[in-house]
Amino acid sequence: MLTVYFDHNATTPLDPRVLEAMLPFLTGRHGNPSSAHAAGREARVALEQAREAVAEALGGRASQIVFTGSGSEANNLALLGSLPLQPQGGRGRVLLSAVEHPSVLEAAEALAERGYAVERLEVDALGRVDLERARARIGPDLALLSVMLANNEVGTLQPVAALAGLAREAGALVHSDAVQALGKQPLAVRSLGVDLLSVSAHKLYGPKGVGALWVGQRVQLRPLIRGGPQEDRRRAGTENLASIAGFAQACRLFAGPELKAEQARVRALRDALVERLRSDVPGVRLYGDREEGLANTLSLALPHLAGDELLVLLDLEGIYVSTGSACSSGSLRPSHVLLAMGLSEEEARGVVRLSLGQETRPEHVERVASVMASFAGSGTR
Ligand SMILES: Cc1ncc(COP(=O)(O)O)c(C=O)c1O
Repeated sequence: MLTVYFDHNATTPLDPRVLEAMLPFLTGRHGNPSSAHAAGREARVALEQAREAVAEALGGRASQIVFTGSGSEANNLALLGSLPLQPQGGRGRVLLSAVEHPSVLEAAEALAERGYAVERLEVDALGRVDLERARARIGPDLALLSVMLANNEVGTLQPVAALAGLAREAGALVHSDAVQALGKQPLAVRSLGVDLLSVSAHKLYGPKGVGALWVGQRVQLRPLIRGGPQEDRRRAGTENLASIAGFAQACRLFAGPELKAEQARVRALRDALVERLRSDVPGVRLYGDREEGLANTLSLALPHLAGDELLVLLDLEGIYVSTGSACSSGSLRPSHVLLAMGLSEEEARGVVRLSLGQETRPEHVERVASVMASFAGSGTR
C-alpha cells in the first residue's frame, strides 16, 4: 500500500542533508560554545555560522536571532519578553488575531494576568483579519499587535505588512508567528515591518525542538529562561548545537532560492487534488484561501463524515492527515480557527487538513483522490 503523509503542517520528515549537517555535533564535535578552549571555540564558530544562515533566510542580521527550544517558546518569548512587566505609559492593550496558534493565545493570557487588556481581531470567512476593522482598533494605547503570517489550519495568509505599518505608526510593537510560513512562503522581516518574528525548524525538514525568535532593534527583550550568558543573555542554557546546525541547513535548503519553484510544484499538486475532489466527490466543501494562502494546505470536509471518522478511515488506508490543528487533535473541541471563520460547531467538526510537502508526487494525489471518492456517501453524520 502506498503511504501518503499529508500532514506537513504538523511536522515534516528530517531531510537526509539536514541530518548530515547535524551528525558531526552528535558524534565527535561535542564542544560547548561557551568554553574557552579550542573545542569550545570551534563550536562557537559553528553556532555563529548557523545564526548567519537562519538570519539570511529571514532577511535579518545574525545578532538579531535568538535560538529557542521550539516555535512555541519563541512565541512565548516574543509576547512575555518584549513588554514591560506591567502596562506603562498608557499602553495597556494587546491585539491578537482570533486564529493564532495556542502558544500565542495562551502567552497572551499570561499578559492579561499582568494587567494588559487582551483583545482579539475577528477574521472573515476565509480566516483573514480585516484591515479596515483592525485600523479602528489600533491607537496610542496599543502595546503589542501579534498576527501570524500563515495559518496552520487553513493556510490563509494575513496582511501582516499592512497591519504592522498601522501598529508601528501608533507606536506599538509588532510580532508575527511565521512558523508555518518559513520554507513555504518567501518572507523578509524588513518588508514585513515587524519587530519580532517566530520560526521553527521542524516545519521545514529540520529537527524538532529548535526554533528562533528574530528580534528587531526597537525591542528590549527580557529573557524567560535565566541563568547564563547564552544568546546574548536573551535565553540561558547551553545551545542545542546539533539541532541548531540542522535548522541552519534546513533554512539553506528550503527557505532560499529554490523555494519559489518548490512552492509552484506543490501548488500544482494541491490544485490538481482540488480538481479531482470537485469532480469525483460530490458535496466536498473547501475552507480557507487557496489563492492568498499556503500552496501546500487544503482544508476540507466530506458530506456525512465527521473529521475524526474521516481521519481514521484515511489512516486505515495509509493516508495521514489531521483534524483542525494537530495540537488540538484528540480533544473534541472544534477548532477555534474554524469557529472564528464562522463555521458552526458541527461543521467545524467535519473538517480535516491535508498538507503536502517535498516528497509529494502525483501518485499521492491520485491515491488520496480515489480513496476519498470511495468514502463519499458513507459515514454517520
Ligand atoms: C502557527 C504555529 N505556530 C507555532 C507552532 C509551534 O511550533 P513548535 O511545534 O516548534 O512549538 C506551530 C506548530 O504547530 C504552528 O503551526
